[in-house]
Amino acid sequence: MLNCWEAALGAAVSIPVFLFVAAPYIRRYVAGGRCARIIIACRDIAKAEAAASEIRAETGNQQVIVKKLDLADTKSIREFAEKFLAEEKELHILINNAGVMLCPYSKTADGFEMHLGVNHLGHFLLTFLLLERLKQSAPARIVNVSSLAHHGGRIRFHDLQGTKVTANALHPGSVYSELVRHSSVMSWLWKIFSFFLKTPSEGAQTSIYCAVAEELDSVTGQYFSDCQPAYVSPRGRDDETAKKLWSVSCELLGIQWD
Ligand SMILES: NC(=O)c1ccc[n+]([C@@H]2O[C@H](COP(=O)([O-])OP(=O)(O)OC[C@H]3O[C@@H](n4cnc5c(N)ncnc54)[C@H](OP(=O)(O)O)[C@@H]3O)[C@@H](O)[C@H]2O)c1
Repeated sequence: MLNCWEAALGAAVSIPVFLFVAAPYIRRYVAGGRCARIIIACRDIAKAEAAASEIRAETGNQQVIVKKLDLADTKSIREFAEKFLAEEKELHILINNAGVMLCPYSKTADGFEMHLGVNHLGHFLLTFLLLERLKQSAPARIVNVSSLAHHGGRIRFHDLQGTKVTANALHPGSVYSELVRHSSVMSWLWKIFSFFLKTPSEGAQTSIYCAVAEELDSVTGQYFSDCQPAYVSPRGRDDETAKKLWSVSCELLGIQWD
């Protein structure tokens, strides 16, 4: 499986710009395309720099760059996007990967509840701000790291057909990462059952698949798990819910996105 993915990463060498939002582990495994310019967008610069220098040392690719991005602050998102658009002429793959889980009740800088603000609104605004550059760089892909947990919640897809920019979502699996850090019960369970969980490397495979697999060139609006199409819950497929979420998101962020 990994060998197969090494080959797939080889195919990514022609991707000049590769923007990757957060998650130190996945970054490590996606960044192997030697000629790809990879931007790691992170809130913790020291942590991101450590991951970036590891990637540079392992792959020899010096085009692995760290930029500050706090998805819990729309000002930071706008600043990041402004600089990105000024400095980068192309963007081929946007992986919206950052996420929080079970964190204590808290609010983003703009007063949104933290899970809503980071997991949804932050990525929503970032994608909105970068969409034109993705369209100009087409073929391009948006990869949204979602979760099996959507079966108990909501998910939205947006039809970007006709723009040659695809947007897909995925469940990475149950991964032994830092996601459960805010819950001691979950952290304990994660440790006990770590043997049954995916390693971060394994958890990255579906993200990489969605980002570079040639057979997905024109596939959009799909949901994947274990590198194959997966079942979406009825609520996740509900058009009315999706439309409502879309308009509420625009309203909260003060943007117009039709
Ligand atoms: N692990 C699982 O079993 C599992 C299952 C289903 C879905 N997922 C999804 O997979 C994705 C990756 O999660 P993970 O398992 O790799 O967890 P993780 O190790 O906790 O990684 C989450 C990443 O999001 C970043 N992040 C959090 N808040 C941010 C903010 N305000 N601005 C910028 N970055 C922020 C974190 O940055 P710091 O490094 O600075 O903390 C971290 O790098 C998430 O979307 C998660 O919902 C994971």
